[in-house]
Order: sequence, then C-alpha cells, then structure tokens
Amino acid sequence: MGKLPDYNKNILCIGAGYVGGPTMAVLADKCPDYRVTVVDINAEKIAAWNSDELPIYEPGLTDVVKRTRGRNLFFSTDIAGGIKSCDIIFVSVNTPTKTYGEGAGMAADLQFWEKTAREILTYAESDKIVIEKSTLPVRTAQAMERILHSRDNGLSFEVLSNPEFLAEGSAIRDLENPDRVLIGSRDTERARHARDILVDIYARWVPRERIITLGIWSSELSKLASNAFLAQRISSINAISALCEKTEADVTEVARAIGLDSRIGPKFLNASIGFGGSCFKKDILNLVYIYRMYGLEECADYWEAVVKINEYQKRRFLLNMLKAMFNTLAGKRICLFGFAFKAHTSDIRESPAITIARGLVAERAQVVITDPQALKNAKWELAEEISRNEVTLVYDPYEAANGCDAIALMTEWPLYRELDYREIYQSMRKPAFIFDGRNLLDHRELKEIGFQVYPLGKPPLTTDGGFKP
Ligand SMILES: NC(=O)c1ccc[n+]([C@@H]2O[C@H](COP(=O)([O-])OP(=O)(O)OC[C@H]3O[C@@H](n4cnc5c(N)ncnc54)[C@H](O)[C@@H]3O)[C@@H](O)[C@H]2O)c1
Repeated sequence: MGKLPDYNKNILCIGAGYVGGPTMAVLADKCPDYRVTVVDINAEKIAAWNSDELPIYEPGLTDVVKRTRGRNLFFSTDIAGGIKSCDIIFVSVNTPTKTYGEGAGMAADLQFWEKTAREILTYAESDKIVIEKSTLPVRTAQAMERILHSRDNGLSFEVLSNPEFLAEGSAIRDLENPDRVLIGSRDTERARHARDILVDIYARWVPRERIITLGIWSSELSKLASNAFLAQRISSINAISALCEKTEADVTEVARAIGLDSRIGPKFLNASIGFGGSCFKKDILNLVYIYRMYGLEECADYWEAVVKINEYQKRRFLLNMLKAMFNTLAGKRICLFGFAFKAHTSDIRESPAITIARGLVAERAQVVITDPQALKNAKWELAEEISRNEVTLVYDPYEAANGCDAIALMTEWPLYRELDYREIYQSMRKPAFIFDGRNLLDHRELKEIGFQVYPLGKPPLTTDGGFKP
C-alpha cells in the first residue's frame, strides 16, 4: 500500500460565475478551517466580487459573502498563485454549446475547461484533488486525467466529479440544504482517499445520507440526465398546454390532477412560455450529441424533442399574441413584464423573453421591457435593438405599461401579482391585452377590469368574444 497524499486545507475554485461564487461562499461559511480562493480570468468580475455590488443577484448571497469575505473567502485573478498554494481545486468554468466546427450548436465547448486543466498542470507543485464542478460530457474526467498526467512531474492528480444542482434564484438555500450531493470517483485507493476528503467537507453541513458516492462516469452522466428529466417535465406540460388551448381544458387543472399522482408529484408542472437559463438547452443538446456519437439515434431524437417543444412553445405564444391582436403588431407598443429567465435572478441567459422580444421587433412592434433585476443584462443583450429605438427599458412597471397595447408577462416575479392593474389599465391603449406567459395573475379580476386576458393553456377571458387560439 503506497503512502497516500497529504492535501493542505486550501481550496481553489477556478471560475467565479453563477456556480463558483455562491458555491464557494457557502463552503467557506460552513468550513471556517478551510481557506477558499475563487479565481477568474475576468478581472472585472473579480473586482465586483470584492465590492459591495456583487456580479450576480441571488437572495441571501450578500449576507454569506459579507460573513466570509476576507475571513476565509478570497476572490482573485492570480490563477497561477492559486494553483500553487491550493491542493483541492474545483473547476467551475463555463461549458457552453460549441458555436464552431464539428458539433457546432450541439456539443459542449470544452476549450475553457481544457485550458484550466493545462494551467493546473503548468503551475502545480504538489499533489492535487481536481474536482469537476462544471457540467461536462460523460467521460470527460478521463480526458482531464490524461492531460494532468501527460507530464512526468512526479505529482499525483485525483479527479473527482461533483456536479452542481443549485437552481438560480434559490442558490443559497439549495447549497445550504441540498437534496443530494454527488461525489463520483474512480475505484482506486488514492481516488477513494480523495473522495473521502470531499465527503468530509460536505458532511460539515449536509446529512451523510444525502452525500452519495458513486462511480465517476455515473456522476458525470447523472447531472446531464437530471437536467434532461427536469426540462422534459416542462416540455411535457407545455405540450399539454397547447392541446388545452384547442379544447378549452385548463392546464392548471390538468397539472394538478397529474401531480396528485404520487408517482409523478406536483413540481415542475407549471405551463409557461418555456424554460430558459444557461443549462437545460445546452445540457440536453450535449446529451443528444453524445447519443449520436455512440450511434444511438432513436434516443437522441427522443431527447432532442424536449428542446424542439420548448422552441415551439415560444413561437406559439408569439403567434397567439399576433392573432389575438388582429393579425398585426406593427406600430403597437408591447410591454414585457420581466426579462430574467425566471424569478429571483438577474440571469437572462436563454431567457424566453429574448426570443419574444426579438419576435415582436420582427413584427415591427415597439417593445418596452421592465424587470426588477435584469435590465442591466437586457441592456447588453438587446444593445442593437435599443440603439435602433425598437426596444426601451423602463424600471418602473407602471411607467413601462403606460400607453401600451399589451402586456406580456415573461417572468414570474411575485411583484407583478401585487400591481394595481386598474391604474395600469387606465393608462393603456384600448382594447388592452394581457398575455400571461406564466399564469401568474388573477385572470378573472383582470377581465373584470376590462382587459382582454390570454392565459397560457386555458380559455381566454375576453370581453368582446375575441380570438380563441
Ligand atoms: N448556472 C447554473 O445554474 C448552473 C447550475 C449547475 C451547473 N452549472 C454548470 O456550472 C458551470 C459554470 O456555470 P456558470 O453558470 O457559473 O458559468 P459562468 O459563465 O457564470 O461562470 C464561469 C466563469 O468561468 C470563468 N472562466 C472561464 N475560463 C476560465 C479560465 N481558464 N480560468 C479562470 N476562469 C475561467 C469565466 O470568466 C466565468 O466567469 C457550467 O458547466 C454549467 O453548466 C451551472
């Protein structure tokens, strides 16, 4: 039996994004005896992590960062220094969909991840545990191991898979109280030793029975499979919503009826304009790509349909708006309530609101966007449309809706339920339409006020017998 490496208690996380920042803040909070450093190539982002205005919005994040930053949590751009001084290294860089070459539009772009692996190899001076936190194609750890062991430097690198399951908008709650933590490893003595160190770290705050140790390939694949299952539920209920609109069934009633089956359960059954966020689409497309690589075409088609239904749902929503508003949107002012891909986050990556906004602009509508947290990102995403005066951003929802022909609710921010819709109705052009892309609002009340109300997956409530989908 060889001597097992002695790892120091310095943790490094490479990548200070939506995952790296909150994950390490909670880890530092729960493990005061570890010194945690988060590094990134993006100096602006690191400066923001070191300031009072953090680069991302997450409920509860500021408090955790305030408690830990400068104590045992540090943000830095010194990647080489971090690699030298820390023996436990999380890799949490972005793994977006490839936009070029073989697999463009489907496969994961692993260039950031590979650069990290090579940097670890270049700067390492002691044995390391390297932990895959990013979501990666199954069997990526093998490539990581090959890179790390490509130089005969006498050092040992143990690669573990520890995918992250946090949901944006509830990241801190999810990190503090996860359903489960996966730690995938090889079945060697050194790998088990490394795995046990990571298990002990999580065991500071996660009950042991929720820390699942498993094979490294299973761990990698479980993350892709989880996201595919979650997104599949959304596409399933959205596909049902389309049929509800044709048959006067009510998708909320149907979802409740389905969800009461304990085998199915009630979560993730809200019909909507579709899923967004940086992960679901890219992870499913990556899964589809991997299936095709192995020649498993039927399975690839099955999962690809989840993404296709999502795109269809957005198109359908837009088409319903067009038909309801007399088949022309040209010159009409349409207000989008919400731009974030979901409530309680400033993240707009893959937000359905982007597709809807661009679709409305293509119909020559004037788009006004309001959102309590995401306007900074919207300004960046829609810079061209804004410069052409096709889109305006307005923080106050009352001001945003003023003079508009329609409101389309994109994000389920609770504040949109609390607004005074009588006042809003007064300020809008008539007939005033509401398209509720999240079924968040009180549709009956809106109809009483005078709105033409188009919920999703339910019969419209119109005062004048208008268009039925
Ligand atoms: N966002 C989520 O909700 C979520 C949830 C679970 C898993 N994931 C996965 O976690 C990973 C990270 O996602 P994210 O949302 O935090 O991405 P992100 O884009 O917010 O952050 C990634 C960070 O990595 C940095 N980076 C890239 N290359 C680097 C390098 N060579 N050295 C140092 N820093 C580098 C980038 O500058 C960026 O700040 C992805 O694989 C994603 O699929 C994300």
